[in-house]
Amino acid sequence: MKEKEVKPLRGRSPTQSKSKISIRPSRKPNESHRIKKVKEKRKEVIGLRNVSKYYHMGETIVKAIDGVNLSVKKGEFIAVMGPSGSGKSTSMNLIGSLDVPTKGTISLDGENISLLSESDLAQIRGQKVGFVFQQFNLIPNLTVQENVMLPMMFQGTDYEEREEYAMELLEKVDLADRANHYPNQISGGQMQRVAIARALANDPEVILADEPTGNLDTKTGEKVMEFLKKLNREGKTVIMVTHEPELAEKYANIVYWLRDGKVEKITRRTNGFKIEKQERRLIKKNPEKKKGKKGK
Ligand SMILES: Nc1ncnc2c1ncn2[C@@H]1O[C@H](COP(=O)(O)OP(=O)(O)O)[C@@H](O)[C@H]1O
Ligand SMILES: [Mg+2]
Repeated sequence: MKEKEVKPLRGRSPTQSKSKISIRPSRKPNESHRIKKVKEKRKEVIGLRNVSKYYHMGETIVKAIDGVNLSVKKGEFIAVMGPSGSGKSTSMNLIGSLDVPTKGTISLDGENISLLSESDLAQIRGQKVGFVFQQFNLIPNLTVQENVMLPMMFQGTDYEEREEYAMELLEKVDLADRANHYPNQISGGQMQRVAIARALANDPEVILADEPTGNLDTKTGEKVMEFLKKLNREGKTVIMVTHEPELAEKYANIVYWLRDGKVEKITRRTNGFKIEKQERRLIKKNPEKKKGKKGK
């Protein structure tokens, strides 16, 4: 594995001791990290293979997502676009290992996470994924700086290092002067930038943002998006969920268009956006789904 220091996973069974899961040291990337990041650029960070999530509601089964294939490579900016109820949040929760699929496999950083226990999942999630939510989800009785420090505590980073690195991250999102404020003393756009700083705390592989500008006005939302774009330019993989096609195409390089829990098409920015895959081609991989889906 690429990390230099490998701490043992808490509560891991002896049979898993050779697992490739390792804990990324909770500090900012040094020079060699950056060099490695360039080399690893094309590596797949997230892979969903024929993933479905079904909910049983009494007699009926709700297919929140149904046979989704998705591949995210290091350094990409992906948008998952779709109308309300199309399965965006469900996909995001699966990608971020907040939830487990009914069917299919999910890999995160080369590791099949479909089979991990809840405690190992939590550990992986803490190291490899940084979340940004529509509702910001900051802890109200912690200061801005303490909010950013929190994820590092769960990874066992010592207090001083947490304090120092949180300040660095707040500088990155132009909020160092708000470090001692509480969330209710700053604006929505600032709260979302704190959430971005917090998402970066453990130097995750991927930033997952679910409707990050959903609660912000256009101008404030743009500033938040500019920070996500900047992080992406610096090498972070970003996956953003949105119901706004303009937002998807303005910031992402690849857009997955969801409808009724399925990937309808995938478009990629080349000179403007071009269709890369359409449902028909995806359906070929799942012949049982082909019937009755033509001419959509
Ligand atoms: N916990 C749940 N129980 C039952 N149905 C759910 C649950 N979560 C989501 N769904 C259903 O799955 C579908 C997709 O939901 P969701 O992923 O939240 O869509 P989106 O984020 O695109 O609005 C919807 O029809 C929704 O009602
Ligand atoms: Mg949603």
